[in-house]
Amino acid sequence: MSFPFLIFGGMNNNPKYILVTGGAGYIGSHTVVALSKRGYIPIIIDDFRNSNRDVLERISALVDQELIHFSISCQNKERLRGVFSQFPIWGIIHFAADKSVSESVENPLKYFDNNMGGLVSILELASEHEVNNFVFSSSCTVYGEPKKIPVDESFPVSHNSPYGYTKKVNEEMIEQFAASQSGFKSTLLRYFNPIGAHESGTLGEEPNGKPDNLLPYITQTAAGIREELTIFGDDYDTPDGTCIRDYIHVVDLAEAHVEAMNQLENPPTPIQVFNIGTGKGTSVLELVKYFEKNTGEKLKYKIGKRRKGDIPAIFANTEKAEKDLRWKSRLTVEDAVIDAWKFEQFIRNKRNRE
Ligand code: UD1
Repeated sequence: MSFPFLIFGGMNNNPKYILVTGGAGYIGSHTVVALSKRGYIPIIIDDFRNSNRDVLERISALVDQELIHFSISCQNKERLRGVFSQFPIWGIIHFAADKSVSESVENPLKYFDNNMGGLVSILELASEHEVNNFVFSSSCTVYGEPKKIPVDESFPVSHNSPYGYTKKVNEEMIEQFAASQSGFKSTLLRYFNPIGAHESGTLGEEPNGKPDNLLPYITQTAAGIREELTIFGDDYDTPDGTCIRDYIHVVDLAEAHVEAMNQLENPPTPIQVFNIGTGKGTSVLELVKYFEKNTGEKLKYKIGKRRKGDIPAIFANTEKAEKDLRWKSRLTVEDAVIDAWKFEQFIRNKRNRE
């Protein structure tokens, strides 16, 4: 691959290389754009098991520069070592992981293997190459079914799926590794429910096959790919009976990673944990209504049975992120449904051209 000569508009005279595992994925791709815009040089590692190779071209078009990228699995330590030897990596953002709750229940070993194994090899290489700045992609799933809401970072951690278990254990692995490693610093970002797409409509969530998550299912239904949305239960103890979540726009979430990387220059403590959400709960029915109102599309949906393992309601207390990370969500759920719909149409046009 060619080594790009990059000009950073005077933003940063000494740009830092950031390894982004899972950088072609949904959250990873938006984070690569945000990092580039802030003068970092992202290095994408992705094995494309859950992402599309042409995302690279689309990211490149948005940042107007050549990307550094390698098609490698995080568990392939030998090939990854070559990347660590080739570039003076300053920081790592570790996204690469499997993330379907339902799949993890069917096949827990896949989750133990990929989510635990990938993290171990990345931390081993970080140690070998003295890369001391690490941002980890965690999830509000580590709160299990919380006793009260909103949840703050001091709430006890728990799990209610093998996926949730891997995130909980991954956080503990990082904490124990940091304790053994002088100079190592890490920020654990517990995301609530990422939704939406880049405002250009060219990056977004592209699930393989039938989506598990709500908004991709809504946009695919409106696009005619799915026949109708099933709302999983309307008999929960919530105002309209459907589950409540904290839906965070993926572009805001990407920004939180850049803030976390910036702050790792001089963090108050070696390990920091932040909730990344909006602090506002939205029900499934409300999200459907936001979609219809903001896109003008009528959505076909029915009420079905509860989905096993779903918790009735969760949303974030975001005070710590606002105060200590100096990050706050800026975009709304309305922005997210509009951007996600734009992306759905982009994908449809792209498939029609292929
Ligand atoms: C869960 C995790 C989240 C994780 C994500 C990964 C919790 C609290 N959250 O999100 O941390 O990142 O999985 O996938 O553990 N719904 C429908 N019909 C559908 C799809 C979803 O009604 O076809 C409803 C669900 O019942 C739920 C809401 O929409 O109430 C959101 O579901 P989803 O998008 O799958 O995310 P979570 O399960 O909340």
